[in-house]
Amino acid sequence: MPSSPRRRILVTSALPYANGHIHLGHLVEYIQTDVFVRFQKLRGHECVYVCADDTHGTAIMIRARAEGRSERELIAEMRSAHLADFAGFQVAFDHYGSTDNPANRRLCGEVWQALSSKGLVITRDVHQLYDATAGTFLADRFVKGTCPRCRAADQYGDTCEQCGATYAPADLVDPVSTLSGTRPEVRSAEHLFVTIEALHGFLAEWTRSSGAVDPRIANYLAGHFLGEPLRDWDVSRPAPYFGFEIPDAPGHYWYVWFDAPIGYLAATAEWCEGRGQAFASWWGRGGAGTPAEIHHFIGKDIVYFHTLFWPAMLEAAGLALPTKVRVHGFLTVNGQKMSKSRGTFVLARTWLDHLDPSALRYYYATKISGGIDDLDLNLDEFMAKVNADLVGKVVNLASRTARWLEATGLSASYPADGGLFAQAAADGTEIAAAYEDGDFARAMRAIMLAADRANAYVDAEQPWKLAKQGPEAAGRLRDVATVALNLFRQIAVYLAPVLPGLGDMAGDLVGGPIRSWDESQTPLAGLPVAPFKPLMKRIEREQIDAVIAASQAAAADQKTTSGESPMETTPTTADSGEPLAAEPLAATCSIDDFAKIDLRVARIVAAEEVPEAKKLLKLTVSLGGDTTRTVFAGIKGFHEPAALVGRLVVVVANLAPRQMKFGLSEGMVVAASGAGATGVYLLSPDSGALPGMRLH
Ligand code: 2FM
Ligand code: ZN
Repeated sequence: MPSSPRRRILVTSALPYANGHIHLGHLVEYIQTDVFVRFQKLRGHECVYVCADDTHGTAIMIRARAEGRSERELIAEMRSAHLADFAGFQVAFDHYGSTDNPANRRLCGEVWQALSSKGLVITRDVHQLYDATAGTFLADRFVKGTCPRCRAADQYGDTCEQCGATYAPADLVDPVSTLSGTRPEVRSAEHLFVTIEALHGFLAEWTRSSGAVDPRIANYLAGHFLGEPLRDWDVSRPAPYFGFEIPDAPGHYWYVWFDAPIGYLAATAEWCEGRGQAFASWWGRGGAGTPAEIHHFIGKDIVYFHTLFWPAMLEAAGLALPTKVRVHGFLTVNGQKMSKSRGTFVLARTWLDHLDPSALRYYYATKISGGIDDLDLNLDEFMAKVNADLVGKVVNLASRTARWLEATGLSASYPADGGLFAQAAADGTEIAAAYEDGDFARAMRAIMLAADRANAYVDAEQPWKLAKQGPEAAGRLRDVATVALNLFRQIAVYLAPVLPGLGDMAGDLVGGPIRSWDESQTPLAGLPVAPFKPLMKRIEREQIDAVIAASQAAAADQKTTSGESPMETTPTTADSGEPLAAEPLAATCSIDDFAKIDLRVARIVAAEEVPEAKKLLKLTVSLGGDTTRTVFAGIKGFHEPAALVGRLVVVVANLAPRQMKFGLSEGMVVAASGAGATGVYLLSPDSGALPGMRLH
């Protein structure tokens, strides 16, 4: 195959938010980017994969406050977790930065300066919802209320999930702050805006003609945004906000979506530093040397940031524009949105606890075709495909032939094989084209056809029969196994971008590490063959069941411990005095009085409706080991029984059993209620507490 000139390719994935763990949905993007990067490297190109944590914004600020620690402590912890998850899935960045790094602050300043000097920054007053209890302006996602269009209840401050309407949070009917549960007020604050309408002509042309944007997406942009004047982009937030303060506008901070894409620049700059590489050779325009390509992999939800705001910023700053914005769809599991209660919201680390990451990499590769369609992880299909293709076809090829070569090594010259190796070598052009297009599904199909042909060869030659025929068949046996092992290694080269681990193991078996795509073009001969080690195990149903069960338990735990709903963990500084006033403190009790009450951590193991009772749910709680209690709790209507299972609560464990109409109640689950809110709020221990632990 003619090798193409060496390209310089910078590749990014969207920066994951630092306020959540990596899950299987994220991995659709990181795995496909990593496959693309590994492919380019194997082809001999200079390819650099950068990414970073997206650390700023209200969500992080609120969560850090709720957990009683600094934002920087929180983002440092999440960074370690993200890096461990990525490493577990063999996602190999060349550099992983943070939007909170000094390089990002510097580059934000430079881009800002460029926008300002072009007269593209203006100031305007904005009416925004303000939570006086929490002492903060509210980002759209922290406001809920009734949709002004279709009147659906419980909708976020920017879009209605029922009718698709978009609106300002202040338009919601009966808005409620999810931070404090109180009604927010409208306050006016000064914001800074970028007038991107000035770049309308450029954006219309670039989205349509640069080749960076898929024509279907360009049509969508033309229909939804570029058909009318572009609205000014609100790029600042008033204090308090976790982010970078704008140097020439004290008290104002760059909005997270301003500094996040600049994180791509910052991560590149950090990578360049110390490697003697010039940042301008990647992001500059028209310098000396081979110009770099820039490929952004993103989900379909953030298209307009990457195809309108981002190129507008780059254009204004005189930086290079993306070569390609590669957009993918979302992940569904078994045909439905990922669901915490169904256990299909699977965190990366949960998967790693029970299943082989390579299996997911392969399965995703078979489903990714470079389009924006959603990708469905069908768990039955996943198991069948991995077992049939990787274990049954690819690994099997080596497992049933390598042993015949342990003593002798490969034949001294490559034997006649009926043209099999040459045919698969020729397929390399098409397989490479499919990888280049991001159509990994097409590449996997072609590779599996080669595996089918190779297995048919082994089936026809029946080496196990040759082995029984003694010395006169030994030469033939060696030749057959030599062909099979070469076909196996050739497949391992083609699969190496997806399955680097398989590539390494194939290299250990024969021929050494796979370093280049060209190794698929020439068969090996006369080399030693190492003892065969099992390269991959079959996926068993129990492993999948374990992932689902662990995900259900993790989701329940998270709900109780991490303040997933920030309403439960509001900062205490400006809390209303209403609940206390409505229910004054009880008379003092002694420590001995208190010690009589045995409060324990318990896990809800079953929860069911009591149809005849208005307020009660029947809960079975475990105190650890075999000790369980049945408790009737007055929380019906506030908690879905199914969502309670697995969650940790606090129970009064030594309350005298009480015969109720519906059965015997053997304790009490501790919950809060009172003036100022209508709910009943279950108490939860911090992460790490175990059923049976006593509260002191
Ligand atoms: O949507 C997200 O998850 C963002 N954190 C992506 C940022 S990508 C880039 F622009 F920084
Ligand atoms: Zn609506």
